[in-house]
Amino acid sequence: MFSTAVAAVLLVLLSTWLLTRPHPRFAAGDPTLTPGDAGRGRLVFAAGGCASCHASPGQPDRLRLGGDLALASHYGTFRVPNISPDPEAGIGSWSVADLANALISGVSPSGQHYYPAFPYASYTGMMLDDIRDLYAFLHTLSPVPERPQPHEISLLFRIRRFVGFWKLLFFHEGRSEGARNGDPVHDRGAYLVETLGHCAECHSSRNIFGAVKPKTRFAGGVSSEGVGFSPNITPTGIGSWSQQDVVEMLYSGRTPDHGYVGWSMVDVVENTAELPEADRLAIARYLKSLPPRPTPHP
Ligand code: HEC
Ligand code: HEC
Repeated sequence: MFSTAVAAVLLVLLSTWLLTRPHPRFAAGDPTLTPGDAGRGRLVFAAGGCASCHASPGQPDRLRLGGDLALASHYGTFRVPNISPDPEAGIGSWSVADLANALISGVSPSGQHYYPAFPYASYTGMMLDDIRDLYAFLHTLSPVPERPQPHEISLLFRIRRFVGFWKLLFFHEGRSEGARNGDPVHDRGAYLVETLGHCAECHSSRNIFGAVKPKTRFAGGVSSEGVGFSPNITPTGIGSWSQQDVVEMLYSGRTPDHGYVGWSMVDVVENTAELPEADRLAIARYLKSLPPRPTPHP
């Protein structure tokens, strides 16, 4: 009787351990993963908004990717890592497969889970060719030797294995949210908004585990730092904007009703302004196709 109980407990522990194991999708030396085109990678980098988090704070060069920006959250403060091509402080020694595993699987080269403060829950839907191009672009940038400070998070959450539970519940590897409808402009917009632009990471509300609540997707939410509210960008919020109004805002920051966007959206516009006009149009068309959703109460 006793031994059955022990066996049951052991079985539960073992299966939990197995279930929360990190699963990198690509083998380190995958020969099909070669660096792509740096010129195209520059646009992937802009659409992905990588500089908004990874650029060294307090200096003007958005391509100086030394990290160290502090991201406050309920779990403590995360410090964004250095992703410059420095082989020691940054990711200069990484392979394309390492970058693909980070973005698609949320797993590090040493086989550990990343925290979802790195928005891989969105990037997981990235196309491999985009990652190959992004890799080539990142390698054209200047190495930054500085090392960011470590995360200041509670002891419990320092155990990265716990992120495995979060992934079991909320992470859908390889999935790009958003319905495709066969219109190439709309579908490109879906990819730019849902995957690369990770717009829902700010414009939605989160549950107590910090995962986006599906019913509030794009309907607005308190920023993860707990200050400010990212507005509803479904037709409930911006229904009166024309498609061209959205395109204009993504280029200049100007809105049809209240001057210019502020807060963290300023960084986003710096990125979307670098994209070709066709991409801003695609984002706008996709946003205008979203179903209206009521704004959640903060
Ligand atoms: C919202 C902020 C944010 C954005 C945007 C962001 N990252 Fe990160 N990134 C992070 C954080 C935080 C971590 C650290 C996660 C951890 O320690 O588990 C991270 C980790 C990484 C790592 C792992 C670095 C290492 O040393 O292990 C890579 C590579 C990376 N990001 C690349 C990118 C790329 C490429 C983009 C754009 C497509 C991007 N990130 C966009 C916040 C961000
Ligand atoms: C880092 C968080 C963040 C991300 C990522 C983000 N936004 Fe925003 N967005 C904001 C905030 C905050 C505001 C409010 C700005 C203000 O009030 O001045 C805003 C405002 C807007 C507005 C204007 C809404 C209104 O009613 O005035 C639109 C449209 C918008 N964002 C679209 C997008 C799109 C499209 C993306 C993805 C490409 C995106 N946002 C990504 C934080 C974000």
